[in-house]
Amino acid sequence: MTICESISDIQDVIANHRFNGHTIAFVPTMGALHDGHISLIKAAQKKADKVVCSIYINPTQFNNAEDLKNYPRNITDDIKKLESAGCDILFTPSDDIMYHTSSTLKFDFGELDKVLEGAYRPNHFSGVALVVSKLFHIVQPDFAFFGQKDLQQLTIIRKLVYELLFNIEINSVQIQREKDGLAMSSRNGRLNPKERKEAVIFYQSLTTAQSLLKSGADRSTTIHTVEKLFEGHLAQLEYFEIVNDQDLKPRHENYLRPDTVLCIAGYIGNVRLIDNMYLIS
Ligand code: PAJ
Repeated sequence: MTICESISDIQDVIANHRFNGHTIAFVPTMGALHDGHISLIKAAQKKADKVVCSIYINPTQFNNAEDLKNYPRNITDDIKKLESAGCDILFTPSDDIMYHTSSTLKFDFGELDKVLEGAYRPNHFSGVALVVSKLFHIVQPDFAFFGQKDLQQLTIIRKLVYELLFNIEINSVQIQREKDGLAMSSRNGRLNPKERKEAVIFYQSLTTAQSLLKSGADRSTTIHTVEKLFEGHLAQLEYFEIVNDQDLKPRHENYLRPDTVLCIAGYIGNVRLIDNMYLIS
């Protein structure tokens, strides 16, 4: 695997592949890689000749300084995982490269970045859109891969690509889970054993809500049941929502459609976890 730290290095490597007629797929990450990230690399390999992964912990998408400070960093392990997955190129830019000037650029996605995560993490998606735009300009891939785990991020990236006319095909990959159902996340490693055991409540809430809605329960009964599940637990529910996957607006009736998604977020201690599940899956 070729590891590049500068823009000119990665662009030279990519230009060389382009010269040889190779297509390029891109998987942006913030590192602390797990099997969820690796599933994106594997999907990218099926689609393109060469796969580029980036590892960059983007400060502008953190609305909480502690979260940024505590974000797991493990570049040595990450390199080993990417090498054994057969990734071709790794891009690890510094803050100086990605933010060579202190940018005041802001993105506004209208309603899309005000709901769900956006309601609890002001400016988060503006920071995501900023860094992904920069990375797309640097790498100029044919395809880019994002996880369905961050459903709202995926929706916003699709809008970004459409509005800014990026000539990049966005692909999504389904959520990879631990054996007990917990969605894989770089943040899971920050849970102590007791918290880790409890973290399954997010997945359990989604499956409980899924079967309730499928058996004809209405919105308020389902939301109330999920809220009850959290009572007396370490985990704190931030939101549980039933939305459609295009504009992420709440769904109030006719739930049994292929675009209905259940979204959940909350805390265990100071670790924030999110998850989602299509109603019909
Ligand atoms: P990060 O949280 O490292 O995630 C990188 C990619 O891996 C995202 O597309 C995310 O949805 C996907 N992913 C994470 N956990 C997953 C799981 N359990 N199953 C499947 N895919 C999973 O998302 C980011 O980084 C950043 O916001 C980024 C896009 C890199 C911009 O900074």
